[in-house]
Amino acid sequence: MENKVDHFAEKSKTWDMNSKRVQNAQGIAELIVKNIKLDKSMELMDFGAGTGLLSYFVAPFVDKIVAVDNSPSMLLEFENKCDEFSCKTEVIEKDLSSDTLDRKFDGIISSMTIHHLEDIPALFSKLYTMLNKGGFIAIADLDSEDGSFHSDNTGVFHHGFDRETLEKQAKEAGFNDIRFELASTISKPHREFTVFLMTGHK
Ligand SMILES: C[S@@+](CC[C@H](N)C(=O)[O-])C[C@H]1O[C@@H](n2cnc3c(N)ncnc32)[C@H](O)[C@@H]1O
Repeated sequence: MENKVDHFAEKSKTWDMNSKRVQNAQGIAELIVKNIKLDKSMELMDFGAGTGLLSYFVAPFVDKIVAVDNSPSMLLEFENKCDEFSCKTEVIEKDLSSDTLDRKFDGIISSMTIHHLEDIPALFSKLYTMLNKGGFIAIADLDSEDGSFHSDNTGVFHHGFDRETLEKQAKEAGFNDIRFELASTISKPHREFTVFLMTGHK
């Protein structure tokens, strides 16, 4: 069997200790709650859930969140704090760049993950098939940047995204009513980076 590298093995241990990261996830979650009609019957997937920062803030508004991630170490952190989530949770270790998941969700949320996947049109098509009719995507990631966001760009396939290109790719996958909004701004010593939230429906 192929030996997969866990790019987040070290980072997972201190991931939640970065207050800017927590604030970013909270800002994204607040915008999702404002823009999408969530309810306590819904089952969502958090794609690239990591340690669960986004899931934690969305949990009070839904029935269940399924954390999908290819990093065992990040998912271990998610599982360690499952009791603190205000909804049911489930963890699935899965690489959505190479694998599929035979499940359907009422919505798919994601924060700061899609820049780690090379083929965005393929990802969008996959996410589309994993949604119930009327289901939504709410995906947050960086606007186009100069490559200086990450100190180490290993495993990073996109230096942020051009919103128009992403909208076109989402439309081609079948999504409609695609909207973008500024979700948060991350300040680093050398510059600021903006994070968008893209929403769309099946
Ligand atoms: C930058 S972290 C974001 C984690 C979390 N969403 C947050 O906002 O704190 C990106 C996450 O995406 C996961 N990831 C990257 N590529 C993936 C893939 N192909 N399939 C599933 N998860 C992936 C990583 O393991 C990592 O946990």
